[in-house]
Amino acid sequence: MKRAEIFESPDRLSAFAGGIFVPTMGALHEGHLSLIRLARSFGGPVITSIFVNPTQFGPGEDFDRYPRSMDVDVELATEAGTDVIYAPPTTTVYPDGVDQAPSVPLPPVATDPGLEDAGRPHFFAGVCGVVGRLFEQVRPSIAIFGEKDWQQLQVIRAMVAHDPRFEGIEIRPGPIVRDPDGVAMSSRNAYIPDGARHRARGLVAALEAIRSTRDAGDAEATMRAVLEAHALDVEYAVIRDAETLGPPSEPDRPGRAIITARLDFDGGSVRLLDNGPFPLVG
Ligand code: PAJ
Repeated sequence: MKRAEIFESPDRLSAFAGGIFVPTMGALHEGHLSLIRLARSFGGPVITSIFVNPTQFGPGEDFDRYPRSMDVDVELATEAGTDVIYAPPTTTVYPDGVDQAPSVPLPPVATDPGLEDAGRPHFFAGVCGVVGRLFEQVRPSIAIFGEKDWQQLQVIRAMVAHDPRFEGIEIRPGPIVRDPDGVAMSSRNAYIPDGARHRARGLVAALEAIRSTRDAGDAEATMRAVLEAHALDVEYAVIRDAETLGPPSEPDRPGRAIITARLDFDGGSVRLLDNGPFPLVG
């Protein structure tokens, strides 16, 4: 199979404008590859970006040790059907320096819900800044984001809907891909020592435990109890409106169960995210 072409500058991207775009930070796993396969299914050229974006990491977070595996990523992304890998150096994305990254207006879903926006206050400014910049360079017709990062997906949808620069870009979701034990795949799962892995199952176990629950308050209490039984430090385990991420006020609008919990182990810790539809049964 012909290896995907690797572009480090945006110059040659213009030939692929109107393509299907999958932005990533690399360390590709089946979750990312499923998005690339979904992109392939739309029929246009597929562009995958690999860029570990410094502005979405806070002080003391794992930017320096974030897993990087470019050679393997190129093989995997090629097999999954990408035509082009866009892997720009930091200076191409932030020509004035990372500290001078332009600030971007954030939609309310990036600032108000008190979920990732509360735990990682810098995060969505960094994500919206880099995704906006990549959209301008790649100029896709469709961009694909995973449901794994539910708030990120809603934030990007809102950003695109309200900014005329992104008119004509359609945001499509890709379902969560899980390991055989049910844990949602994540590049950061590589940090989890084997002996602590069973505790990471707490998030999917919490979602399974509310399968037949219809009351949001009961569901939140059940999820918390399951997470704590797995010795996880709960950041939030909530039922929200699936789109606004505000309280689930209207019964006929889709809801979402959304969890972030920290798994602490000897020598470190990792933040785990998961989510699922709520209520599951109509
Ligand atoms: P990254 O964590 O590399 O994820 C890239 C894309 O893969 C995101 O849309 C994410 O939701 C999706 N993804 C990750 N794990 C998944 C899984 N288990 N199942 C399905 N999809 C999954 O998210 C980012 O990078 C960055 O914030 C980015 C958008 C690239 C901006 O820097």
